Amino acid sequence: MIDELLATIAAFHRGRTPSPEFEMVIEVLDALDDVAAPSEIGPGRPLEAIRHLDAVESTGTDPAVAAILDEFLRIGPELPWRQTTGYLDVLSAEYLANYGYVRQVGPRPSTIEHPSVRVGLGLWGPGLHYPLHAHPAEELYHVLAGEPWFGTEDGTWTQARPGDAVHNPPWRRHAQRFGPEPTVLLYCWTGDVVSDAVLLGKPEAAAAPARK
Ligand SMILES: [Fe+2]
Repeated sequence: MIDELLATIAAFHRGRTPSPEFEMVIEVLDALDDVAAPSEIGPGRPLEAIRHLDAVESTGTDPAVAAILDEFLRIGPELPWRQTTGYLDVLSAEYLANYGYVRQVGPRPSTIEHPSVRVGLGLWGPGLHYPLHAHPAEELYHVLAGEPWFGTEDGTWTQARPGDAVHNPPWRRHAQRFGPEPTVLLYCWTGDVVSDAVLLGKPEAAAAPARK
């Protein structure tokens, strides 16, 4: 069921200029070429957040972004949605009711097991604040929908739009704030992909971004 979704993700990365856009993408593409999707996908958690799929809009300006989104929106409700286990007792009920992700490739529990690459899609409802966090994996985000702000530990916030890339080296401390529309992010991890992200400090500690 996810073959087509993985194909749109690989095509997206191959179509970026320059390709590969970041060196880590070489390993990601190798993994996407190698993996075989299972014929059946086990159930995930029935998350409240997937209601936001209905309001996700594709800007339509980038055909490669639109191709991923179209397929994601088509099969999204049937995918195994997850949340980071370590966040469940820490983040607010509001946050947990409005965020989730599907992990197509990666260590268990992923749809397709892989030891050294994670590939997935995350969904966040309007107005959420993802507090400062870090992880040992190298990370590459691409915005597919929405206009989220990406923050660093020094309080700098940068707004990103569909098609924009955000790269985090291992252990960089980062945060996100999400705009008035639902946000969809494509993410890739390489390196230590077994360890989850950890939250840093109190969730409310990071400053708000300056308004446009
Ligand atoms: Fe991250």
